[in-house]
Amino acid sequence: MCGIVGYIGEKESTKILLEGLHRLEYRGYDSAGLAVVSPDKKLEVRKVVGKLSEMDKSVEEKPMPGSTGIGHTRWATHGVPNKVNSHPHTSCDGKIAVVHNGIIENYDSLKQQLQKEGHEFKSQTDTEVVAHLVEKHYKGNLEQAVIAALNEVEGAYALGILCEDEPDKMIAARKGSPLIIGLGEGENFIASDVPAILKYTRKVLYPKDLEMAVLTKDDVKLLNLEGKELEQDIKEVEFDAEAAEKQGYDYFMLKEINEQPRAIRETIAGRLGEDGTKVKLEDIGLSEEDLKSVKKIVMVSCGTAWHACLVGKYLIEEFAKVPVEVDYASEYRYRNPIVDKDVLFMTVTQSGETADTLAALRLAKEKGAKVVSVVNVVGSSIARESDGVIYTRAGVEIGVASTKAYTSQITALYLFALYLGQVNENLKTSREEELLKELNAVPEKMETMLKNEEFNKAIEECKNQYFEATDFLYLGRKYNFPNALEGALKLKEISYIHAEGYGAGEMKHGPIALVDEKLPVVCNAPKDSVYEKMISNIQEIRARSGKVISIATEGDKEIKKHSDNVIYVPETEESLTPLLVVVPLQLLSYHIAVKRDCDVDQPRNLAKSVTVE
Ligand code: AGP
Repeated sequence: MCGIVGYIGEKESTKILLEGLHRLEYRGYDSAGLAVVSPDKKLEVRKVVGKLSEMDKSVEEKPMPGSTGIGHTRWATHGVPNKVNSHPHTSCDGKIAVVHNGIIENYDSLKQQLQKEGHEFKSQTDTEVVAHLVEKHYKGNLEQAVIAALNEVEGAYALGILCEDEPDKMIAARKGSPLIIGLGEGENFIASDVPAILKYTRKVLYPKDLEMAVLTKDDVKLLNLEGKELEQDIKEVEFDAEAAEKQGYDYFMLKEINEQPRAIRETIAGRLGEDGTKVKLEDIGLSEEDLKSVKKIVMVSCGTAWHACLVGKYLIEEFAKVPVEVDYASEYRYRNPIVDKDVLFMTVTQSGETADTLAALRLAKEKGAKVVSVVNVVGSSIARESDGVIYTRAGVEIGVASTKAYTSQITALYLFALYLGQVNENLKTSREEELLKELNAVPEKMETMLKNEEFNKAIEECKNQYFEATDFLYLGRKYNFPNALEGALKLKEISYIHAEGYGAGEMKHGPIALVDEKLPVVCNAPKDSVYEKMISNIQEIRARSGKVISIATEGDKEIKKHSDNVIYVPETEESLTPLLVVVPLQLLSYHIAVKRDCDVDQPRNLAKSVTVE
């Protein structure tokens, strides 16, 4: 996610801005920029690609004097990481500068309208439309121009805005993306998160969605988007900077598990038609004709991303009726695969740098395949070498154990499956509408579940009962078979307990020999088309004294009779159950690992991105 810092006061702003941005580096970024009002009241903008240290050097060599400024670290969502796409973005006359975190969903239509009105754009970003919109509405009062502009904008934003003609003023506004206001003596601040300003003040305002602030060095006004002044609920920040980076969570992994509703929303954002009942995937790099000619899809990946591919297989075959083959990248690249011209090759990857996945992609391209990749890092090697991309917008994932990237990958593959079914006409519009309605409801269901006391108590009980087990078995069927593999991977990679995931139907072909009173067996058993089969498998385990932890649908009383522990998830459409079922699996692994004093964010022997074979 991007980082925003702003300062208005009497000190030199550049030093404060850069310190603040360094404090936000944990949010991940690929470029950075500053806009500072110079002592002769000119707005100076400077940008770098790569690390913040480049900006440190630039400012060292050529200072940017001035006591009002905004700074930004960019995590690219629209447009590759380069100087032009870095923030701040400016209006045509260069007098208005904007930094932004979030996604302007209707930027395409706004950009076209502004271009018709003569505005010239320099970047590929969604953010730049805000600078031109404010310029269009500017009649000598910056806050009024911003209000007019924001009333045209759809999507999520946290904004910092400066205007050369009003050099002693800064505007901040938010909707859906984090933004705070720091209150000092003779100085005031804006930031994406408290670590950026804790050195200067602990007095903070947390604007709500659709609120904005007008800052001068001595005053802060909070307004709604009608311009009405609002009460200020000033808070005192308790925790230190280190804790603040994790937003109060003990580990980044727990923070990222809780960020999943937002990550799913952002991965969906801007990819539904005007009325929200159709899917539109722009940067997929394939025409509708290309997609109609796809006779088979080969999906190749590693680890958790490979589990997402397995879910994608079920989705694409069900909704688009196109056969899908899934393979480990490390196997694909050495088995001399057959690639026909009407094969669509897909990779799924969080980092976009996994060596095996990149090698498999290059091999498929050599053999003439078109490549579409689901990637979290804009401008990464795999993104650049693919013919088309579907970006997950999970933001930076710091925990080595992948969580929000996984659910974002499933979401992206869900959208792709519906889109392909829509294009090749194998998916009825009415069915697509139903599925999109259910998909849009998942983030809120997940948020409610994460806050549910019973849910967290059930996980706590499982942690206390089983944290000393030496082996676990995870079972699932159909859409939740990949989650059996994913649950086992999560547990083994952060708690170092041996765990295996299996298709539940496979039990009788060997694994059931493992079952005894010491073996916890996690059974993914939501109410779906294979529920009865799962109940039979659970009974087979219980008959052999195995300990059954069932992941079940809220309201299912029957399953309690067959389980030692039950963790309930909200009801949803069968094909969407993987998004909800995986969350208790992630949390169970997390809490067991913490109980076992493991280094949850940096497990032994593992790297976040496996860029070597
Ligand atoms: C999952 O928790 C692991 N971190 C690992 O399996 C990971 O999913 C795999 O290395 C693939 O990484 P990628 O998504 O960046 O390509």
